[in-house]
Amino acid sequence: MSKIDLNKVRFSTKVVHAGQSFDPETGALSTPIYQTSTFCFETVEEGAAKFSKTIPGFTYTRGGNPTTRALEVKMAAIEGGEDCVATASGMGAVGAVMIAFLKAGDHVVCGDTLYGGTSVVMRTNLAQFGIDVTFVDTSDLEAVKKAFTPKTKLVYFETPTNPLMTVTDIKSISKIAHEKEARVVVDSTFAPPPIQFALKLGADLVLHSVTKYLNGHGDVLGGVVVGTKEDIALIRGNGVTKICGNPPSPFNSYLVLRGLKTLVMRVEKHCQNAMDLAKYLKTVSAVKEVYYPGLESNPFHKLAKEQMNGMYTGIFSFELKENINGMNSFEAGKKLVNGLKIATIAVSLGDPDTLIQHPASMTHSNVPKEIREKSGITDGLIRISVGVEDVEDLIEDFEQSFANL
Ligand SMILES: Cc1ncc(COP(=O)(O)O)c(C=O)c1O
Repeated sequence: MSKIDLNKVRFSTKVVHAGQSFDPETGALSTPIYQTSTFCFETVEEGAAKFSKTIPGFTYTRGGNPTTRALEVKMAAIEGGEDCVATASGMGAVGAVMIAFLKAGDHVVCGDTLYGGTSVVMRTNLAQFGIDVTFVDTSDLEAVKKAFTPKTKLVYFETPTNPLMTVTDIKSISKIAHEKEARVVVDSTFAPPPIQFALKLGADLVLHSVTKYLNGHGDVLGGVVVGTKEDIALIRGNGVTKICGNPPSPFNSYLVLRGLKTLVMRVEKHCQNAMDLAKYLKTVSAVKEVYYPGLESNPFHKLAKEQMNGMYTGIFSFELKENINGMNSFEAGKKLVNGLKIATIAVSLGDPDTLIQHPASMTHSNVPKEIREKSGITDGLIRISVGVEDVEDLIEDFEQSFANL
């Protein structure tokens, strides 16, 4: 067993050590991969006691697995929550939360800028179950207040949002929601600890697509939800274990545990590189706007400085001007992205590699242009997840591609 008192150590130490217990059989330092679907018992009585939870222990991996449990304990410590449940993907976490806390007739106040998959759940799937959703710009606190009804049970939003990096004030929204006895759920995928600690700011539940910064190596799909013991037990029982049946594989849990050990230094590097690249892009004549809350000119800078611990995350968007050497911004955007040699054309974020995408021709290509542009996703908008390469190389890569426009 580890001798560390996690309440007495600083954050990076906690991230490395939380959830770790040396393997009692072998003394292995790294958490073993318990790649098993089921667990056996010496006697029927032992099985009965473990199923009824009168003694602790594992029975079947859908309900719990030692490798996955180590990940859950680590994530609860990282987010400062009482407990955590891990899922097979970020969408698994979103779905499990909805199933745990909503029933027909309930109402949700929901951020109007969401990851595409979550948007489908909120706009289509919840209606199938008789749940009403009001979409609102959650950075506008007055609009949020007006969106509540007597049936509101949940307030759900992402901060910062994808791709324009709008920041929502978690503390203020939590205060408003708690006066109305609604739970606040924050998707903090774009700003993991140590950037943002949603629970400490007042949210009831924080969820992540672990696929992104938390695993950080682009080789796993996963999700987590962190909150109180009671709420996590409900999500685990009603959502993950039963209706959704979507726990992670023990192997993926192991990979995430491994990735988390370097979370703090990776995130610091992503944030520093993003800041340097955003500042460079701000000086480029073909660039109309850079949407990064780390820039003092950004309308969310003041709030982000406080809420995101002055780190502002590693992802942002920028927009090209309308006429660049006779090209419209759609053509120029494609040419700029195609001309990059280090930044890889791909969706997702939080990988060591810099990933870049052109929403108008990729993720949002099937959204009609007027609807896209209404939410700020113009033809010249480019989203970049800044990796952990040397930022000088990234800047030189952009310089050569801009020079060829
Ligand atoms: C903000 C956000 N939430 C949730 C998800 C869904 O996560 P996953 O792809 O792991 O299911 C994503 C995926 O990109 C995301 O960006």
